Amino acid sequence: MSALTDCPILTIDGPSGSGKGTISRAVSLKVGWHLLDSGALYRLVALAGARAGLPADDPSAHAQLAAAMDVRFGADAAGNERVLLDGEDVGREIRSETAGQGASRVAAWPEVRAALLKRQRAFARPPGLVADGRDMGTVVFPEALLKIFLTASAEERALRRHKQLKDKGSDVSLAGLSREIAERDLRDETRQVAPLKAAPDACVIDSTGIGVGAVVQRVLELGVTRRLWTRERI
Ligand code: DC
Repeated sequence: MSALTDCPILTIDGPSGSGKGTISRAVSLKVGWHLLDSGALYRLVALAGARAGLPADDPSAHAQLAAAMDVRFGADAAGNERVLLDGEDVGREIRSETAGQGASRVAAWPEVRAALLKRQRAFARPPGLVADGRDMGTVVFPEALLKIFLTASAEERALRRHKQLKDKGSDVSLAGLSREIAERDLRDETRQVAPLKAAPDACVIDSTGIGVGAVVQRVLELGVTRRLWTRERI
């Protein structure tokens, strides 16, 4: 149990395209825990900033927006993700690689990270939380009962993102996407505040060549070992 949140927490951190989102969603559905997609919050800050016409180099204006923006997460009747910004569904818009680049830029500002901290911790509610991001295990939920650092080769991550974007109807070149992902990862890994890195007590899972089902099963097994849930639940 986390003293910060009084709720059991599983964190899943890792670079772009490592499959964090898919794995986090599947695990949260299986065990009936809440889900925090922290990357979506950074994507929303960038989008809200652009819509409000904020100067692209103004951290404090973006931080104010990060604290105040009206955001809701949910799903439609068919179970598709819905992300509402000021009541408008922007779920598709925030998933582009351009939105990811914007998110990575605003995420490098300490003011924005600080403004989102309380918002992210508010997601921790019983029976538990699966938190997906870059600094979930290192900064936002350092007391999480289980921390996963999910990775995969750069080639495979680019291929996965490419497929994901194509499935959503975006026509992007694999070579261009690979370059953009490498740029984004470098920025996320080298920023001064809360850089992307594995917590010292994280379990590292390299998912290169491993299917989603097997990774989900590995995380569920680790959860049993850490007593997050019982074997009967999985
Ligand atoms: O997980 P994602 O691709 O949706 O994240 C988009 C960007 O947001 C990512 O490149 C870096 C930033 N981010 C972050 O800095 N910290 C997090 N906990 C989650 C995302």
